[in-house]
Amino acid sequence: MLRNLAILACGGLALAAPKPATDIPAISTKAPRGSEAGAAPTRVSPDPTGPTTHGPYSLSSATTTGPEPGPTTVLLKNDGPPAAPTGNYYNENGKFEAPFQLPFTPGGGKGVNGSNTPRYMVESDYDYASVVLGLHQEFIELDLFNHGVAKFSEQEFLDAGLTAEDRTFLSYMATQEADHATLLTNMLGESAPKQCIYDYPFTTVREYIDFNIKLTRWGESGNWGFLSHLDSREVSTLLVQAEAVEARQQMIFRQWLGLHPMPFSFVPGIPQSWHWTLLAPYISSCPENNTRIAWQNFPQLTIDNLPNPNRVSPNDTKTDEVVGPRVADPSTSNLTAPESCLHNTTLGYDCAPAIAHNRSEPLTFPGRKVFLSWESPGKPVGPNNSYVTTTAAGAPRFVAWLSQINLTYTPLEVTGQNKGWTWQPPNEVYVGDPAVNGTVFLAVTDSDLYLTPFNLSLINPHVNALGIMIAG
Ligand SMILES: *[C@@H]1O[C@H](CO)[C@@H](O)[C@H](O)[C@H]1NC(C)=O
Ligand SMILES: *[C@@H]1O[C@H](CO)[C@@H](O)[C@H](O)[C@H]1NC(C)=O
Ligand SMILES: *[C@@H]1O[C@H](CO)[C@@H](O)[C@H](O)[C@H]1NC(C)=O
Ligand SMILES: *[C@@H]1O[C@H](CO)[C@@H](O)[C@H](O)[C@H]1NC(C)=O
Ligand SMILES: *[C@@H]1O[C@H](CO)[C@@H](O)[C@H](O)[C@H]1NC(C)=O
Ligand SMILES: *[C@@H]1O[C@H](CO)[C@@H](O)[C@H](O)[C@H]1NC(C)=O
Ligand SMILES: *[C@@H]1O[C@H](CO)[C@@H](O)[C@H](O)[C@H]1NC(C)=O
Ligand SMILES: *[C@@H]1O[C@H](CO)[C@@H](O)[C@H](O)[C@H]1NC(C)=O
Ligand SMILES: *[C@@H]1O[C@H](CO)[C@@H](O)[C@H](O)[C@H]1NC(C)=O
Ligand SMILES: *[C@@H]1O[C@H](CO)[C@@H](O)[C@H](O)[C@H]1NC(C)=O
Repeated sequence: MLRNLAILACGGLALAAPKPATDIPAISTKAPRGSEAGAAPTRVSPDPTGPTTHGPYSLSSATTTGPEPGPTTVLLKNDGPPAAPTGNYYNENGKFEAPFQLPFTPGGGKGVNGSNTPRYMVESDYDYASVVLGLHQEFIELDLFNHGVAKFSEQEFLDAGLTAEDRTFLSYMATQEADHATLLTNMLGESAPKQCIYDYPFTTVREYIDFNIKLTRWGESGNWGFLSHLDSREVSTLLVQAEAVEARQQMIFRQWLGLHPMPFSFVPGIPQSWHWTLLAPYISSCPENNTRIAWQNFPQLTIDNLPNPNRVSPNDTKTDEVVGPRVADPSTSNLTAPESCLHNTTLGYDCAPAIAHNRSEPLTFPGRKVFLSWESPGKPVGPNNSYVTTTAAGAPRFVAWLSQINLTYTPLEVTGQNKGWTWQPPNEVYVGDPAVNGTVFLAVTDSDLYLTPFNLSLINPHVNALGIMIAG
């Protein structure tokens, strides 16, 4: 016993002093042709901690508008499409139908038998345009996380219940974004877009976190939406590995606002045009010649009685209790002490940062009336005001709720010009799991077309307006 301990103490890990990095033999990896072995590649962003300017775009008229003109759209006819050609595999007895392609490697799958070398580059216009959008998301997150650290002092973080260590952690999240931006840039090549100038809506730490919750939700859902549709499975593989970290960031921001970290079992994917619609209002200008975005900008849908997560009673939220007019502007945080849940330490009301809180009164609930207003198309939005909102939909009739793996429609009661209301639906994904919770996407539509996660983008021609709501 004693001898063993002595051995441990002399030669084992217990007493080993940390070695300087230069003494540790490099792990042997074969460097790709043309690159230097050993040193890690540099990041794409000019200076991940450096200052960038912020604020709205100052010129009133744009030099270019709308997406880059492309070849004519091939019209899609939708009268009961057939299932995909591989859609007939059904294994009824557990016996394999095909020979193994390699030892312990059953037949099927893509890229698992060494017949092709992986190529980590986009492989089609669809891939390219999707990753360009994803890169814009990485760039704004990089800027937004750094900006939070720069704008708010240690004391302001403390007042919101967050420590200096949390603030340091936020900086760390910005470096994760620099890494993601680098990865995506490399998968696009030299025409990859560059970082832009952003215009943010928040003035307090709570509002900042509220905005981050929405922005990281559409970033995450935006990526989930296209990953399995990409031609390049290699690109998709790397994006999943980046997105796994972004999903954690999203959860952290919910915890910082004292919300339940993940009150759902699934996270929905959204079409690229939904992602671009939500993101564009916060980009004020992009560098000259920046690659343009191919996706659609829908008119904005505003939830007039958006529940305020800073209230002890979110159901008491007054209309327009948000800091500004844009689609994801956060709820106001300057409430009076009895109204605010931030310094209320009573269980069920406390919304200070925590791993998990129980809120006695949920932010929203099935049967809650949701009041909506939406813009008409034709508004200039996005970088340099050079994109224009459009819709191909007819008269608005439904509200589509996208959350978890469900798309649910509720009837829209139109009450006036671009105004109406609906009820929050009570449906469940599986028994006991409410379909609507967390940050959900709402669209006003002209139809209740049946769609599932893999064919959701077929909703776009039916969308009148698009919004986002923290439902719990
Ligand atoms: C190897 O995988 C590819 C698809 O990635 C497939 O086309 C090919 O048939 C497979 N080869 C064998 C021997 O199964
Ligand atoms: C957008 O506006 C900025 C600032 O006015 C300008 O520097 C930039 O070249 C413009 N970008 C495009 C794509 O026109
Ligand atoms: C933008 O493109 C034009 C035309 O190709 C070129 O003359 C100009 O130098 C480019 N500007 C930048 C900043 O790259
Ligand atoms: C929510 O507020 C509405 C309007 O004030 C009220 O009618 C309703 O009873 C409230 N519901 C709950 C569950 O508090
Ligand atoms: C909160 O700020 C808004 C403007 O942003 C102002 O209209 C409102 O009166 C303020 N409320 C309180 C309680 O200070
Ligand atoms: C928290 O808010 C609830 C509801 O308004 C109230 O009953 C309770 O006394 C408050 N607790 C504290 C510690 O302020
Ligand atoms: C939190 O809420 C759950 C479900 O509503 C309940 O079962 C649990 O007892 C609550 N926890 C505390 C500490 O109040
Ligand atoms: C959403 O989740 C929270 C936290 O678990 C819960 O309190 C709330 O009741 C849920 N909302 C619905 C509609 O069930
Ligand atoms: C929600 O999605 C699940 C899984 O696709 C499905 O079984 C269920 O019927 C859907 N529920 C509603 C209300 O759409
Ligand atoms: C979407 O997919 C579902 C099957 O999951 C199918 O029933 C539905 O018809 C499809 N919708 C359209 C518009 O093709």
